[in-house]
Amino acid sequence: MSDVRKEVKDYYSNITVNEEGKMKTSICSCALENFPPHIQEIRNQIDPEIITHFYGCGSPIPLELTGCTVLDLGCGTGLDVYTLSKLVGEKGKVIGVDMNEDQLAIAEKHRDSMAEKFGFSKSNVEFKKGFIEDLKSLGIEDGSVDVVVSNCVINLSPNKEDVFKEIWRVLKNGGELYFSDIFADRRVPEDISNNKILRGECLGGAMYIEDFRRLLNKVGWKDFRYMSSTPAPINNFEIERLIGNIKFSSRTVRAFKLPDLIEDICEQYGQFAIYNGGIIGSEFSLKLDDHHTFEKGLPMSVCGNTCAMVENTRFSKYFTIYGNRDVHYGPFEGCGTSPSISQDDEGSCSGGSCCC
Ligand SMILES: C[S@@+](CC[C@H](N)C(=O)[O-])C[C@H]1O[C@@H](n2cnc3c(N)ncnc32)[C@H](O)[C@@H]1O
Repeated sequence: MSDVRKEVKDYYSNITVNEEGKMKTSICSCALENFPPHIQEIRNQIDPEIITHFYGCGSPIPLELTGCTVLDLGCGTGLDVYTLSKLVGEKGKVIGVDMNEDQLAIAEKHRDSMAEKFGFSKSNVEFKKGFIEDLKSLGIEDGSVDVVVSNCVINLSPNKEDVFKEIWRVLKNGGELYFSDIFADRRVPEDISNNKILRGECLGGAMYIEDFRRLLNKVGWKDFRYMSSTPAPINNFEIERLIGNIKFSSRTVRAFKLPDLIEDICEQYGQFAIYNGGIIGSEFSLKLDDHHTFEKGLPMSVCGNTCAMVENTRFSKYFTIYGNRDVHYGPFEGCGTSPSISQDDEGSCSGGSCCC
């Protein structure tokens, strides 16, 4: 195991076993307060021992998961895995991967009782011990997963390119990466990234948002979207003093694997999309990302990329699409290849190259 991974593993074992589940910053506790109501209902059924050891920084639980195979990278004690278990239902499946046996032991312990609480005849959850940089050795096949989620984990990896390549490999065509993590507004200097505590608290390894965009582009995601972005709450004077002027944010990202359809900027083909309703949790409108919300029944002019995200994915049965790509009318108006500033931060353009 690489030194960084060993240090991170020890950091989380120590918190789980010795520190009564407590981290040094508030980054991983604010998330518990921000769940949408339909998810909160499920969370209320989850064993308190799992919740005590939740270290996520967001809620990477997308809509419309019935029957899906979902993979949770760095699942910890399994709060998101069990939430997803209920959402995918008995015909779906959730796989949780983590390298830390102390956390996996807690997750595993509740497998049967959680299935029983959800009214399932047997558990639809499986936990695998291993590294998120090498899913192949865990037997996770090419194109076998509908949705990959992860909650405050990828920042901890010493080899993020391998992680994203593995995600791309295991996703089906039309499948989705949907994850929450901590990001930085600049490259984190070495004295901070090498500090074991700052690394363990999800700050040291945080990706600079523009390098993140470049990395996703390189692996295959030419356009991805932010769902939300909020300043990361640190609430520890000592740690705030060490990080100085770096601004950390907690972001949730969505990136569909559509290699033949997604272009590097948004193009205008004269297409319209109508959300017809029907998705649980989105009765009157559907939020695709932080700057596209489809009101039920209202035709919306969409660029080629946005159109593909609702027409060629698991959302397609809830949409009526008008138009195709036969005629091209130039770039989609308002599109920017501009930086990855999210609307919530600056009130301006968002995401990995898409329209505003
Ligand atoms: C901040 S915790 C988040 C845990 C969980 N997602 C949650 O929301 O409670 C990070 C988790 O990622 C795991 N982890 C970090 N790096 C990993 C790697 N390279 N491979 C596998 N697991 C990793 C740690 O063991 C830890 O359980």
